[in-house]
Amino acid sequence: MAEVVVLESETDAGILAAASIRRLISQKPDAVLGLATGSTPMSTYRALAESLRADPLDVSRVRGFALDEYVGLPAGHPESYRAVITRDAVEPLGLTPGNIRVPNGDLATLETAGSDYEAAIRAAGGVDVQILGIGRTGHVGFNEPGSSFASLTRVKTLTEKTRIDNARFFMSPDDVPIHCLTQGLGTIRRARHLILLAFGEEKAEAIAGAIEGPVTSSSPGSVIQLHPHVTVLVDEAAASRLTNLDYYRYAYANKPAWQVV
Ligand code: GLP
Repeated sequence: MAEVVVLESETDAGILAAASIRRLISQKPDAVLGLATGSTPMSTYRALAESLRADPLDVSRVRGFALDEYVGLPAGHPESYRAVITRDAVEPLGLTPGNIRVPNGDLATLETAGSDYEAAIRAAGGVDVQILGIGRTGHVGFNEPGSSFASLTRVKTLTEKTRIDNARFFMSPDDVPIHCLTQGLGTIRRARHLILLAFGEEKAEAIAGAIEGPVTSSSPGSVIQLHPHVTVLVDEAAASRLTNLDYYRYAYANKPAWQVV
């Protein structure tokens, strides 16, 4: 099962996730990171940037694959995930821009964009650690409820709920694209380590579904139950609907010293 760690704050969760990523990069300087967008991974990116400033490590060979991208936004749109990943992760971490791939949401090449992306991930040797947030609908990446556990990178239609949630980044809800390209749940399952983060009461139900609910495509986050190496980092509010909370706390408090996140 996933290791579930309940932390006092988003900042603490970011520090733990960043330490895990830093350890990976120090062991494998060309590590492949799976990069998420949204508010959730920000504390991880901030903590990692801080750690790299305090104690520099060569990250020039680190490679990265974004989880998803909107379809049809004009090149350079500030809310395209290409722009967001550049702003939130690539620049603050000092990653090499040419090493970072984002699914290509251009309409002209959309038909092959998914298979091209899968080929690029395979050619890189797969993702070493995938950072994940979770949406209120339970989506990971943009895999909305109903997404197949075998799905690979492809075009998806966003739910109205997700479009409303993401409207905060756009001028109006109507500006949020209806379609996206997202790594599939099958793609995510192939990553060697998943770090799922969630903060706040509004994520509690999705987190309970992912960790303790039935494994069902109606709760895409439950894909983590099929993965052998998952770390879930949550705050108290996001953990508030977990039934086995005492056990997760007990397991973490008694974690063998040789185990790392
Ligand atoms: C977005 C992204 C997901 C993200 C989720 C939660 O739409 N496509 O990758 O995990 O929704 O977003 P946030 O972290 O801002 O709550």
